[in-house]
Amino acid sequence: MLPKPHIVNLPVYQPGKPIEDVKRELGLDEVIKLASNENPYGCSPRVRAAIESELSNISLYPDGSAVELTGLLAKQFGVNTDQIIFGCGSDELIALTARAFFLPEDETVMADQTFSVYKSNADIEGAISIEVPLKDGVHDLDAMLAKIGERTKIVWICNPNNPTGTIVSDQKLTAFLDSVPAHVLVVLDEAYAEYVTDSEYSDGISLLSKYPNLLVLRTFSKIYGLASLRIGYGIGQPKVIKLINQVREPFNTSRIGQAAAKASVADVEFVAECRDKNRSGIHYLNDQFDRLGLDYFPAHGNFIMVDVKTKATEMFHSLLEKGIIVRAGFSVYPTHIRVTVGSAEQNARFITALEQVLSVKQAHV
Ligand SMILES: Cc1ncc(COP(=O)(O)O)c(C=O)c1O
Repeated sequence: MLPKPHIVNLPVYQPGKPIEDVKRELGLDEVIKLASNENPYGCSPRVRAAIESELSNISLYPDGSAVELTGLLAKQFGVNTDQIIFGCGSDELIALTARAFFLPEDETVMADQTFSVYKSNADIEGAISIEVPLKDGVHDLDAMLAKIGERTKIVWICNPNNPTGTIVSDQKLTAFLDSVPAHVLVVLDEAYAEYVTDSEYSDGISLLSKYPNLLVLRTFSKIYGLASLRIGYGIGQPKVIKLINQVREPFNTSRIGQAAAKASVADVEFVAECRDKNRSGIHYLNDQFDRLGLDYFPAHGNFIMVDVKTKATEMFHSLLEKGIIVRAGFSVYPTHIRVTVGSAEQNARFITALEQVLSVKQAHV
């Protein structure tokens, strides 16, 4: 067999550890997963009825272009329907964008610690990733701009950034977009946008009319709580959306996913409630980290990256033994873990477990 040479040694994506695996492996009855930035409050109560009424249609292919859902989002964001595309999660939109734009040896610019799917898709297409160090956990847009060359096809900006949770300010972002050459597509991944409350944050969708080379990615997996239904969307200029549509599979989102998304968009109260509870959770966790003398990055999404001042992979295992799954293994931040902001009860249990592990470690120093 002769696969593409550049994919032969690619790693397989390692998702957050599933709850069932941890229960089985460690013989635990109760396990809390704070590893994949899922919504601890589930999804809108309207979703159940929407899914139930769609069940009678599951033998029929979905609407491949999601006309009704497109209409709802176009209205919500004040854009035209030909500016929106849906994907099997925003993951798929990242893959499709890479598929549509990269030729082998093209260059792409991203932060050195950001959502790993940008680089993995660039690798699959044979493009060269230029990874620019974050500055205090924040995208260094000046340094990223300096790395753009003739071969650069795409710049990825994750805002808020996964895993650090930091944002780039509106002013920095627009200054960057003003300077990026017109031939470069800027992908602004806003998977956590609905959680942000900071007034310095710019909503990328409002910038689309000024910057034709901008593509904004959003998802129903996070604040809307539909991660298992795999539905995300991209908004950009019709020309960009058409290109990505040309490489899209015909039925890449499901009837159930579309029905659930339609019901979710309408439930603005649920989104506001999740945002508020998330903010309280961030305040609580920040206070606890302060009390424990731990540094953390300012969190704007539904997760916090905290420096546990010990090998993060060891902390991961110690917390796992206490039934708490977090995320570790960030190459640039070997002593940081990323923890999803859970419910008040989950957050308190996490802090209790963290404190116990830290005090055992201190006792051994
Ligand atoms: C920054 C970012 N972008 C995109 C995604 C992909 O989300 P989904 O494919 O579920 O829409 C995630 C998921 O964790 C993410 O953190």
